[in-house]
Amino acid sequence: MKNFYDEIIYAPLAGCSDYPFRAMSARYKPGLMFCEMVKMEPLVRGIPNTLRMLDYNEAMRPIGGQICGSDPKLAGPAARIIEEHGFDVVDLNCGCPVDKVTKDGSGSGMLKDLDRIGEVIANMVAAVKIPVSLKIRAGWDEENIVAAEVTRIAEKAGATAIVVHGRTRKQAYKGPSNWDHIKACVEVAQKIKVVGNGDLFTPESAIAMREQTGCDGVLIARGTMGQPWIAEEIRALAAKEPLAPRNFEACREALLDHFALSVEYKSKQGALIDMRKVCCWYLKNTPNARELRKKASHATSLEEVYGLIHGFASA
Ligand SMILES: Cc1cc2nc3c(=O)[nH]c(=O)nc-3n(C[C@H](O)[C@H](O)[C@H](O)COP(=O)(O)O)c2cc1C
Repeated sequence: MKNFYDEIIYAPLAGCSDYPFRAMSARYKPGLMFCEMVKMEPLVRGIPNTLRMLDYNEAMRPIGGQICGSDPKLAGPAARIIEEHGFDVVDLNCGCPVDKVTKDGSGSGMLKDLDRIGEVIANMVAAVKIPVSLKIRAGWDEENIVAAEVTRIAEKAGATAIVVHGRTRKQAYKGPSNWDHIKACVEVAQKIKVVGNGDLFTPESAIAMREQTGCDGVLIARGTMGQPWIAEEIRALAAKEPLAPRNFEACREALLDHFALSVEYKSKQGALIDMRKVCCWYLKNTPNARELRKKASHATSLEEVYGLIHGFASA
């Protein structure tokens, strides 16, 4: 069976990797892409808004679902729902740093209770046939780096892969992702695949991470925002094929395509809200992108947003 984790993977991004985002990503064929995380409890209860976050189409394959929660009893049923929805892999979130999530021991809160990680993973593995992975931060803080230990525990519990973000929970997004923690996981891994994550914004950085850490795959998060083509660029660079830089017009075209997908999938109000963040992603390298964002956040109609994007000049 093909291993989805040796690949260029697009991350779960709460509030961002929604259906239109993934429809854009699918055009450039990442090796695997994830939906936004869903909490185990509302998933098991069948809450419609939670289930809607798992909408996908066949072009988005291979596709992963990510569950977040710390209750071993819910883990198996939640993983099974992901499998029944036809997902190719299921991942456990052990990295989310938000207080609201960690306060019941979920997300990066799991890094304080490694036995629980083993139990939750084992229950997921027992419940499904699809590959199970987990996504961690290096540890809760610098004094408690647990990435290599979690790699061993997850491997023993039957996980196929571990995704390692080289920052601690305490760091949030301050300072760089420490790739040495990814390397430490590679060194203890026997069968389990190790996927490196953190600060991959260019094709060059993805190649460098593989070289420096020996990781099997790479997972890109913020670097996919406004750059749905980054997988294509990494593959081209790895194959030493020439890379044509995308100019302003190509980025504007992509933004318009993303907007159209958002309008098609969401309500008018939903698409308007979406554009407040999305328009900035695609044009972030232009000097007056902030101005566009400001105007887009006050727009009251889709026509107004179209007008703003069409009328936007690069400098
Ligand atoms: C807006 C946003 C939402 C995120 N949502 C999730 C999520 O749902 N699940 C998860 O495991 N990580 C989530 N992350 C973390 C990323 O997947 C990734 O681990 C982190 O951003 C570091 O990678 P990067 O440097 O490539 O951005 C999120 C990050 C951001 C910025």
